[in-house]
Amino acid sequence: MSRRRNRSVLSVFARVVAVGVGGVILLVAGLVVGAWMLLAPTDTVGEVDFDTELAIPPLAESTIDDQGRRVFDLTAQEGSLDLSEGEVQTWGFNGDYLGPTLRAERGEEVLVRYRNELPDASTVHWHGMHLPAAMDGGPHQLVESGGTWEPTWTIDQPAATLWYHPHPHGETMDHVSRGLAGMFILADPAQTVDLPSEYGVDDLPIIVTDPSSSRGEVQTNSEFGDRLLVNGTEGPYAEVSTELVRLRLLNGSPMRVYSFQLDDGSPLVQVASDGGLLPAPHETTSVRLSPGERAEVLVRMEPGETRTLRSIAPDLGQNFLSERFGGGEDRFDVLQLRAADQLADSPDVPEELAPDIVEHAGDPDAVDRTREFRMSGRQINGAQMRMDHADEVVTLGDTEVWEVTNTGGEVHTFHVHDVQFRVLSVDGREPPPELSGLKDTILVEDGVDYRLLMTFTDYADPTMPYMYHCHLLRHEDQGMMGQFVVVEEGQEPAIAARQGNGHH
Ligand code: C2O
Ligand code: CU
Ligand code: CU
Repeated sequence: MSRRRNRSVLSVFARVVAVGVGGVILLVAGLVVGAWMLLAPTDTVGEVDFDTELAIPPLAESTIDDQGRRVFDLTAQEGSLDLSEGEVQTWGFNGDYLGPTLRAERGEEVLVRYRNELPDASTVHWHGMHLPAAMDGGPHQLVESGGTWEPTWTIDQPAATLWYHPHPHGETMDHVSRGLAGMFILADPAQTVDLPSEYGVDDLPIIVTDPSSSRGEVQTNSEFGDRLLVNGTEGPYAEVSTELVRLRLLNGSPMRVYSFQLDDGSPLVQVASDGGLLPAPHETTSVRLSPGERAEVLVRMEPGETRTLRSIAPDLGQNFLSERFGGGEDRFDVLQLRAADQLADSPDVPEELAPDIVEHAGDPDAVDRTREFRMSGRQINGAQMRMDHADEVVTLGDTEVWEVTNTGGEVHTFHVHDVQFRVLSVDGREPPPELSGLKDTILVEDGVDYRLLMTFTDYADPTMPYMYHCHLLRHEDQGMMGQFVVVEEGQEPAIAARQGNGHH
């Protein structure tokens, strides 16, 4: 009797366990399928109508003041953008979304009269620019709502495609996602290479963003949008009237990495990276850009033909799940190029561009100091961004090697303010052609180490730091950023500083 009761208790227990286990299995299966659907790659290839002509951001007007400075006016303001899903509230510079293209020549002194008409405090940072720390527009140059700021500096670096965007600590992703970004093109009268250079005709700014929106607002928390805009245009086409067209590609997205390709697999000829021309043209079928990176490419068109620029699953050097989480399997139609029936002649692609450009970064045989930067989690060298602390102290005039490694199992990027650097090696090997010129931002693959050469010239300020950080804007906002001050030889920084990273 008692044995039988025991047995029945046992069998009830077994049944409960079985139902429980079955339920758990079903639940887990449901979660996996659900997650799978949520994470399904975005694919707009073949789905984009290309029915809107590509907007070209206007060249910013400027005046010359009585001190000979080129003066620009830039106002950060609220606006709205008409998208297929309806009107979306945005932020822009001098307009609704993005901003005008600033253009200045090497040797010129510039002054920007910035006004903040946003409801929040913000900044404007000159990404890629060599300039004094107090003019950099980083988190220390915060401008209150309603306030103004007038940075001024002399352009002194090679011709390049730079850009500008806000940099308020913890809010950068929010402000950039709403639309605050623009191009800053530097020209160099001494540079003689013949490339297509008629702005808006055969020299096109291509600012790629992927804003998500819902209920008329940009979702500034969403890391990956499900469609692309180029210069704020959805489904854009551009009419091409010359044999060669130069595309100045800027990844203005907060988190997404692109790999740009032509639909027919024909070549893109890369002629420039972040800091200026490459030593020589690099013919390739795909150009990978992480947030903040730029590349200039030439596309050769035949009369009457149509080609589509796409972004296809960039190789992020990650395992399958991280690839999928990082948008690494998404595909997009980006821009359609439509060639006219008659095309004007273009200059031939030069065989050499700027063979000596990397000398700008210093002499690799005369390195004053080597420092290490380990990226992991949301930290660099085990620390997070501290506004009142200098993580590194650099001596003015020094040439340094910064060794950057990523040990965290995720994709990161590394951006340094004030300087353009040369990539000396990638995992001990010579860098690939696309990294053979000057850079200010690189994608840092997990488990790969990068040696970067840079020289800190002209501007020392013991009171005001520059930034280095991951340019995935969520990571930056979460504190994956450090500060360095540049001081004169023998000078002490005026803010608390950690000494001791690196060796001579
Ligand atoms: Cu593009 Cu520190 O920024
Ligand atoms: Cu920057
Ligand atoms: Cu990161």
